Amino acid sequence: MERFYITTPIYYVNAKPHLGHAYTTTVADSLCRFHRLMGEETYFLTGTDEHGDKIVQAAEAEGKSPKEYVDVISGLFRDLWPNMNIANNDFIRTTEPRHIKVVQDILQKVHDSGDIYFGEYGGHYCFGCERFYTEKELVDGLCPDHQTKPEYIAEKNYFFKMSKYQGWLKDHITKNPDFIRPEQYRNEVLSLLESGELEDLCISRPKSRLTWGIELPFDKDFVTYVWFDALINYLSALDYPEGDKFKKFWPAANHLVAKDILKPHAVFWPTMLKAAGIEPFQSLNVHGYWLIKNAKMSKSIGNVVEPLAMKDTYGLDAFRYFLLREMSFGQDSSFSEEALVGRLNADLANDLGNLFNRTLSMTHKYFGGEVPSPEIEDIVDAEIKKLGQNAMQSFQEHFGELRFSRGLEGLWELVRGLNKYIDASAPWTLFKEKNTGRLSTVIYVLLESMRKIAVHLWPVMPESSENMLKQLNIVFSPDKFNLPKELDVWGVLESGSTVAETSNLFPRVELPASADEAPAKEKKAKGGKAEAKAKTTAEDNGTIEFEDFQKLDLRVGTVVEVEPHPDADRLLLVRVDTGEEAPRQVVAGIAEHFSPDDLMGRQVVVVANLKPRKLRKQLSQGMILAVKSGETLHLLTPSGDVAPGSKVS
Ligand code: ME8
Ligand code: MG
Repeated sequence: MERFYITTPIYYVNAKPHLGHAYTTTVADSLCRFHRLMGEETYFLTGTDEHGDKIVQAAEAEGKSPKEYVDVISGLFRDLWPNMNIANNDFIRTTEPRHIKVVQDILQKVHDSGDIYFGEYGGHYCFGCERFYTEKELVDGLCPDHQTKPEYIAEKNYFFKMSKYQGWLKDHITKNPDFIRPEQYRNEVLSLLESGELEDLCISRPKSRLTWGIELPFDKDFVTYVWFDALINYLSALDYPEGDKFKKFWPAANHLVAKDILKPHAVFWPTMLKAAGIEPFQSLNVHGYWLIKNAKMSKSIGNVVEPLAMKDTYGLDAFRYFLLREMSFGQDSSFSEEALVGRLNADLANDLGNLFNRTLSMTHKYFGGEVPSPEIEDIVDAEIKKLGQNAMQSFQEHFGELRFSRGLEGLWELVRGLNKYIDASAPWTLFKEKNTGRLSTVIYVLLESMRKIAVHLWPVMPESSENMLKQLNIVFSPDKFNLPKELDVWGVLESGSTVAETSNLFPRVELPASADEAPAKEKKAKGGKAEAKAKTTAEDNGTIEFEDFQKLDLRVGTVVEVEPHPDADRLLLVRVDTGEEAPRQVVAGIAEHFSPDDLMGRQVVVVANLKPRKLRKQLSQGMILAVKSGETLHLLTPSGDVAPGSKVS
């Protein structure tokens, strides 16, 4: 059986978790669930990094001892993850004895083999990064990450002969294209290794300056440099060197980090492993930053978004979906609630939610809620199945290569394809015509395809996926489903079983009024997810937001009946088939321009979500779009025949 070991960075406990941490951990969770459904045995580790100057400073600021302080903050991380449906197998803290022991064993081993020496060094030290910078690495004399002036520190310390492994590392990266990915980061590391001599790594701090750390096993006057300590968590959690977990999972080790900690993971870590006689990890996976108004979201800048506030306002799965769908893995991405709301409404409420709502309600209307047995096949069924196969394949390929956004895009081809399949097959017409043979097949194809979509979404939205399956009367367990198999099987959903009557997993949401001013503040929509007040921003220059446009539900319909308004000469009662149960009646002021005969059979564009109202006692459910040229009125109409109910976008 193939294996997959995924790790997140162990986060510093100098501040509360924010969206950046939530993103990496959510990606790790999704990937882990994905590999599980690909039939692999998985292991997922996260934890906290608790030693070093930074932590001591943060504890002092709160008037606590380091130990008291780290217990509290580490607990915040540990408690957050279950709330985000993160299914990690272990949570490691660098203050635990199991970790300390492994760090000391490895230090001793590398010391014994002669790769650690004592020497004097002066350098520019950034407390934020907990590392020395060379002159060359500083930007205008400042730390490139924190934009603060590093302190010049000279002292006697222990050094790891990192330079000795430069050639080996270059070679290893060259020979293993997936060792660092995406490629831009691999290239960045290669050019760093090619641009000059790698320095040795200072791996100790004198106790005279810092006591909060792991004591060097060969010199009681020093503690271990926090990075040499922290990286080893990936091994200590597997019970290195003798543990079964180490033997099983280390060869499949995949680290997940953002680009801020590329160098420690791509340079320090593999050379440390090499010196300790341990195989390199399989792959380092590097993502970009979430930005707020073009600045990196970070605790030091103070522009952080709280993951739980997002969950409370929009729902966990919508938030998880957004994180994976919005960011191209490797690139930076801007976070905004506007974007979140836009995605949620477009992809989840409209596309996915509608598919479930429509299909479940039709199954009830036409078959009393029972899954029908497919009967009469048509070419369109074969086409949609093929589309489904391609969509699932695309999802699986991209997801495995960390292109989550493209994977989801691929899967949505099927979601949208099925909505079109409904419009084109017009089940309501089949029902009216009593064509049960064809109707059974259409509904079955829809339900079975929805089952496949729900299974594929488990890595991204576990709870919603399980709920969707429950609505199809299926109890999910990860061992029961396998993604590659889904490409080929058809007919898993049992005819005769009963599906839920309604779905309603993803109600439309509106942007909370305060969202554009203060993205970081906790703001819970009053009375739950869907009820927050809408307020848009760009009215002043006459433009609207894309979300405003999206509020319009424009549909193409076919005119099936027209009669004059009984009480008004200028009005016509136009009945339009918009793919729904019954035609809609629109009261239109176009009698001077069109006779009923002119209109019959025409395709028109209808504003379908206009609030219904009575015009001279006749109900009007929408508006027909027209354009006036001189004295002549023209109707807006598609350039080719389209299925009634097709959405204009
Ligand atoms: O570096 N966008 O811990 P840390 C995306 N303890 N991801 C972000 C982010 C942002 N704006 N901000 C933070 C440390 N992250 C060390 C790691 S590992 C052996 C030791 C995420 O608390 C991202 O994963 O500063 C980044 O790499 C990590 O948090 C840094 O967390
Ligand atoms: Mg950091």
